[in-house]
Amino acid sequence: MSAANEPVVIHKGLDNVYVKESKICFIDGEASKLYYRGYSIGELAEYSTFEETAYLLIYGWLPTRAQLDDFVKRLHSHRSLEPGILQMIRSFPATSDPMDVLRTVVSALGVYDPQPATDNAEMRIDKAVRILSQAPSIITAFSRLRDGKDLVPPDFNLSHAANFLQLLTGKSPDQYDAHVMDVALILHAEHEMNASTFSCTVTASTLADMYSIITSGIGTLRGPLHGGANEVALKTVMEVGDPSKAEDYVATALAQKKRIMGFGHRIYKTWDPRYVILKKLGAELASRKGETKLFETAVAIEQSALKHLAGSPIFPNVDSYSGIVFHTLGIPTDLFTPIFAMSRIAGWTAHAIEYLEANRLIRPKAHYVGQTDLPYTPLESRTGR
Ligand code: ACO
Repeated sequence: MSAANEPVVIHKGLDNVYVKESKICFIDGEASKLYYRGYSIGELAEYSTFEETAYLLIYGWLPTRAQLDDFVKRLHSHRSLEPGILQMIRSFPATSDPMDVLRTVVSALGVYDPQPATDNAEMRIDKAVRILSQAPSIITAFSRLRDGKDLVPPDFNLSHAANFLQLLTGKSPDQYDAHVMDVALILHAEHEMNASTFSCTVTASTLADMYSIITSGIGTLRGPLHGGANEVALKTVMEVGDPSKAEDYVATALAQKKRIMGFGHRIYKTWDPRYVILKKLGAELASRKGETKLFETAVAIEQSALKHLAGSPIFPNVDSYSGIVFHTLGIPTDLFTPIFAMSRIAGWTAHAIEYLEANRLIRPKAHYVGQTDLPYTPLESRTGR
């Protein structure tokens, strides 16, 4: 046992600590590169679909036509929610945060699974496929119910992305909108050992079930320094409201030591490649819909921030335009982080399965700097502090 006064190295934030070897994701934060299983994010965004990318992440290879068809069939088979789950969603206050709803309901899915725990990788994948498939149904069911709207049945002819948009709006989605949604899901599906993936890995290392693993990830993704940043970034752009006000906003915020949301990253010290793709899609989407002011305001904020932060390694990240893209698709702001989660389930699953192939319980240490051997004071004799 190390004595409290012995010096130890504390890895605050676990910066540069490696917890496993991995073949899932490679980020070159200096060169603006991101690979899933060796494939560049640019190629996947251009040629793949979310379903295929999820398969790639979870299984480790691009599926054959038969493998993809089978995977899609499995996803489709879970699209409808159990009556007990629907009843639960109906019981939530309309004011609930959709991330709380998703976290609670994903946890509850385990209650409706006769065999939630398993030590078999293929069965774990089965549970993950169920969660992956049901996440869009959960998010959209809550969104429609809180708005007093009827639920929309899942459409088994639509992709994951298009089905999500249809479940949400009740309208058959425009083909380009569905494409943008699909790419956004691909871009959010995986990102190495980020905070939420680490949470999932810690939970997996205890040999907990997939419902617990994914629930851990959702809870961790919820914070504004991680998944919640896109909502705050969009709110900022809306508050700024006009490109002409961007410079003032950025200069004041930075002078007050505030952070510009959608900027900065622990790993990227240059452009986040996902940002590049989302900005392009955001520009196209804004011009197709004839709603360009928000996009132009975001560009003006970005230009001012880059000017003020020049010389620092702080660049736009995935969240600087994802909120604008989702907003332009007609998605309510508080669903952005749940959408991030619904896509990231693929990456969380891949990491949990990979970690369990050579599992070791994750148990770091805390360096104790408190007192010892204090005399116990009876309750009535305590004077408070
Ligand atoms: N705006 C202004 N300054 C910033 C920003 C920012 N967005 N991000 C970091 N900095 C500054 C910090 O103030 C700090 O300055 P200081 O050394 O003078 O105190 C310096 O850069 C280093 O900051 P850290 O917090 O140590 O950097 P870290 O690598 O831990 O930060 C993080 C990463 C948390 C993402 C940070 O950049 C941030 O808060 N960004 C805003 C929130 C955001 O966009 N999050 C989404 C990340 S992507 C994702 O999770 C999907």
